[in-house]
Amino acid sequence: MLSNFLQKQQYNYVRNFTSKSAERIVKQQLQEIRNAGTWKAERIINTQQSASIGVEGTWNKVLNFCANNYLGLSNSPELMQAAKDTIDSHGLGLSSVRFICGTQNIHKKLENMIAKFHRMEDTILYSSCFDANGGLFEGFVDPVKSKVAILSDALNHASIIDGIRLSGKARKMRYNHIDMQDLENKLIEAQDQDVRIITTDGVFSMDGDVAPIEKICDLAERYDSVVMVDESHATGFFGKTGRGASEFCNVLDRVDIINSTLGKALGGSSGGFTVGKKCYIDMLRQRSRPYLFSNTLAPAVVGASIKVFDILLKSTELRDQLEKNTLYFREKMTKAGFDILAGEHPIIPIMLYEGKLANEFADEMLKRGIYVIGFSYPVVPKGEARIRVQISAGHTKEQLDKAIDAFVEVGKLKGCLKK
Ligand SMILES: Cc1ncc(COP(=O)(O)O)c(C=O)c1O
Repeated sequence: MLSNFLQKQQYNYVRNFTSKSAERIVKQQLQEIRNAGTWKAERIINTQQSASIGVEGTWNKVLNFCANNYLGLSNSPELMQAAKDTIDSHGLGLSSVRFICGTQNIHKKLENMIAKFHRMEDTILYSSCFDANGGLFEGFVDPVKSKVAILSDALNHASIIDGIRLSGKARKMRYNHIDMQDLENKLIEAQDQDVRIITTDGVFSMDGDVAPIEKICDLAERYDSVVMVDESHATGFFGKTGRGASEFCNVLDRVDIINSTLGKALGGSSGGFTVGKKCYIDMLRQRSRPYLFSNTLAPAVVGASIKVFDILLKSTELRDQLEKNTLYFREKMTKAGFDILAGEHPIIPIMLYEGKLANEFADEMLKRGIYVIGFSYPVVPKGEARIRVQISAGHTKEQLDKAIDAFVEVGKLKGCLKK
């Protein structure tokens, strides 16, 4: 009785006290988003994340070609068991930030393993890579005590852009996408600063293109700068042993700071980290706000992530399989006459150019049991709409063939294959 009464009270409270003007303005702005055709809807998945998933509204399972599940580990029985075991041994959560009473032995173990994997000195964990990027630039050097310039690629991820916005007095300098001449000009301009940080995505998520990290490191050495690379779309699978774009570019020992996520290839749950020189990580533990003011990473995630790094430190089998799958898909689709942005990354943009065509193409693919997404403006530049395919080590050859066959069928239907 009492709880019914409380529920009613709560409901009435929310309903009665909503600001009329706020409600009217928000509804009007929502309509504007709908009218602009940029409304983001969620498809409901009713199975575990995997190469083959159940999606509400479709009869049979569909093949998933749009997850960041690069290594196919999102429903790995081994990782799920590790997560369950860690709940048993270390509980559900810490109800604390790290520095009050939120650090367990497993957090230190995972930080050490990540540092070992990246051959760096120390790691700091975050609840997400969004937080790692959000907490890096203000935390890394005190911009009140020292003059800091941050030089950022124009197409960097939103979380890097937000992190830079939060960096207070630091001088914010954006260089044109992978334009090394522009970066050099900006570095020259920034010579009057005490500290310069160059920040770039290792792999850019819309095109799957790789930052020229070797050239960035050359410039960083010439102009005394720190290099930070976001390896979210590379850690665990890109480069010869899966150490990321920095390994792909042969500069593993020249990058100062790597930020990455535990929420894509590395099991797909959540969490992020910054790994680098000990003094930088020490400073983040003193000053980084998402670390100081947000709850510690849940033990289940930590336990599963320890298992991931165990696997990655022992074997390259999964990244090798992903490389094989990626090559196979790229070759077959190119031969079939699709216009594909060249590269070696499992992000494979199938260029269709028109937004309407990209959306219709994705709908036709879903009818054939293939789940892909059309990307158009403003997510990608005007006139560059595409289907972004993401390959996984978990895709079988049969699944890849089924997707290729469906692409060819729809490609013919829509008249977008080269002769
Ligand atoms: C390049 C890049 N950095 C950071 C993030 C954020 O990662 P997380 O999901 O761990 O917050 C993403 C996720 O989309 C990303 O693509």
